[in-house]
Amino acid sequence: MSYQTLLTTLDNGIFTITINRPDKLNAINKTVMDELNAAVDEVYSNPAIQSAMITGAGPKAFVAGADISEFMGLTKEQGMALSKKGHDIFFKIEHSPKPIVAAVNGFALGGGCELALSCHFIIASEQAKFGQPEVNLGLIPGYGGTQRLVQAAGKGRAMELLLSGKTISAQEAMSYGIVNSVVAPEELLPKVKEVLLNIQSKAPIALAKVIDCVNRFDHTKHGYDHEVKQFGECFATEDMKEGATAFLEKRKPDFKGK
Ligand code: COA
Repeated sequence: MSYQTLLTTLDNGIFTITINRPDKLNAINKTVMDELNAAVDEVYSNPAIQSAMITGAGPKAFVAGADISEFMGLTKEQGMALSKKGHDIFFKIEHSPKPIVAAVNGFALGGGCELALSCHFIIASEQAKFGQPEVNLGLIPGYGGTQRLVQAAGKGRAMELLLSGKTISAQEAMSYGIVNSVVAPEELLPKVKEVLLNIQSKAPIALAKVIDCVNRFDHTKHGYDHEVKQFGECFATEDMKEGATAFLEKRKPDFKGK
């Protein structure tokens, strides 16, 4: 299948999904989200695919977040629907019976950090940067970040990242437990391929069962449902409109707490 915003290749059983909007730092717009959904469906349904990796095109970004230009004018209900759709697709990644690894080559911010966290694990280049900057926009993470970051980094570190909106280096992300290993930029894809080829030599049904069991650890749906509601409510605030407008106008936001 060919895509508008993704590049895909299948090599030695490894399906590489590259998000390809480098001029917008691979921000996830509606088309990227829909095509990601279709590409993950391919992982599930194509017997020639044994494992997958997700990465970003260009030297700068994995994914710099959801596309902020699509946030303007959304109502609370539309915000909730956007979050719910992201949840469904990222759940599909998380619950894939075949391993899916994030190869994080640059900025993994907001929805990009959440996308990486929904993969089974993360390998990063030295140039990668991680963060959940939504509070800068009068928003909160809407694609599972408030839940998965706690699982990956623990409550204190997740709280600090989510409340401050700060960006951390790949090395810091590794020390937080978000990232498994950090390699030189040119070694990133070869390293992920090597790791996946090793995993592919194991029993496929056992791999699927490991993924299923690990995902069942403390996986109540409650926190995610709450996140959908809270994310949607941000769209009813003036601060969210101000935050997104300020970003697009390349100026500092002036938040009023309304
Ligand atoms: N949504 C929409 N467009 C985005 C984007 C996003 N999340 N992130 C980057 N872009 C666009 C920029 O608007 C710019 O477009 P333009 O060239 O048409 O003006 C282009 O990508 C390059 O980004 P720019 O900001 O010029 O690059 P930079 O190197 O100065 O800064 C970042 C890089 C990642 C620090 C900055 O782009 C940023 O803060 N992005 C938003 C991150 C974010 O808040 N994500 C969470 C969204 S919920």
